[in-house]
Amino acid sequence: MTEPVIFDRQPAVLDLEPGTYFWCSCGQSENQPFCDGQHKGTGLAPVKFVVEAAKKAALCNCKYSKNQPFCDGSHSSLA
Ligand code: FES
Repeated sequence: MTEPVIFDRQPAVLDLEPGTYFWCSCGQSENQPFCDGQHKGTGLAPVKFVVEAAKKAALCNCKYSKNQPFCDGSHSSLA
């Protein structure tokens, strides 16, 4: 399996409106933290998630969270 590229070692803290989102899991999108289709050929795929009510969320930017698409602090233990 292809390993994701680390985009950043801190989460993207965003105010999300209700809707459907596609979080970039490969780290190569130019529209972080969301998918822009650049994962093609990597074997990785975006993670779809739905926001029911407006909220602030910390989305994973290192791509190694165990709670994708949300930050779980994994960025602090990456080599
Ligand atoms: Fe990274 Fe789509 S561009 S998952």
